[in-house]
Amino acid sequence: MKIEANVGMELVRATESAALRSGRWMGRGDKEGCDQAAVDAMRYALQSVPINGVVVIGEGEKDEAPMLYTGEQVGTGQGPEVDIAVDPIEGTTLLAEGMPGALAVVAVAERGALYNWQGIAYMDKLAVGEGAVGAIDIDAPVAVNIRSVARSLGKTISDVTVVVLDRPRHKDLIRQIRATGARIKLILHGDVGAGVMTSIEGAPADILMGVGGAPEAVITACALKCMGGEIQCKVWPRNDEERKLIEEQNIDVSKVYMIDDLVKSQTVFFAATGITSGELLRGVEYLPGGARTHSVVMRSASGTVRYIDAKHRWDKLMRISEIEYDKTPSPISQI
Ligand code: FBP
Repeated sequence: MKIEANVGMELVRATESAALRSGRWMGRGDKEGCDQAAVDAMRYALQSVPINGVVVIGEGEKDEAPMLYTGEQVGTGQGPEVDIAVDPIEGTTLLAEGMPGALAVVAVAERGALYNWQGIAYMDKLAVGEGAVGAIDIDAPVAVNIRSVARSLGKTISDVTVVVLDRPRHKDLIRQIRATGARIKLILHGDVGAGVMTSIEGAPADILMGVGGAPEAVITACALKCMGGEIQCKVWPRNDEERKLIEEQNIDVSKVYMIDDLVKSQTVFFAATGITSGELLRGVEYLPGGARTHSVVMRSASGTVRYIDAKHRWDKLMRISEIEYDKTPSPISQI
């Protein structure tokens, strides 16, 4: 069965749930508490989505992640067969430390469409929005890519903004970007949000460059496919163990994974809800008796990008969900 219904609208309820529940853990320094809250809520909400889904990108293998593990069946089981990628908190440290930009994210594509590297943690990434599609080549020097993107966007190099994860491994990359005269936005975490940023209106960044999580590369590709952007990636082994794994799996480290290698289907959905406020989305606002969330939901078939500003009432939410949001086992309710 093909994905015909707009499951994106159902998916956003799952990201909202994860954000509502985990947002209570903001700044408490407890990454596990944040994660548990988000995973519980997202998993519960996904149960009622009319899909026959398999988690392809999840919280890890079954023995290390009891919920939303890779291979877990999600959805009602009645709808189309799909792959699902979940990131209940993209930027767990951001939430635990009360810093901007933590998101709850879900993506869905046709069965077998999402690429997944077993055991390879990182990828080198290069992503741009629609205005610079065709202008990038991950094998080309940094300066060539920046110059080419600037030309495509009709900007001078000094007006181009490159977003990069602030990591010691990027010391030389940052030096090369600075040498071109381009602007740099260094981020502490969250390169899915950074990749999406290249494609939104008034884009806060024009290019995402550098090494980040491999699952995040696939999730970013889902969003960019919906928005008409482009991402190119290469596997980036961290150590000998990963190099061995790559050899065993016959993965060619020089291979460039294009957006269609990362997400093979033309039908893709992406949903994200802000947990802490960032440039992409505002975070959860807790109100007397309820809360407000800000989400984005995208569908590749129509190219629609919807921003959803939702007000939730605890009394009503509790009637439709077994999760008691206002009695969630947050540190506050344990006092
Ligand atoms: P988590 O939410 O899983 O902690 O991931 C956050 C993140 O910053 C990703 O956005 C990014 O792809 C990856 O971690 C980078 O990994 P590292 O922090 O090891 O450099």
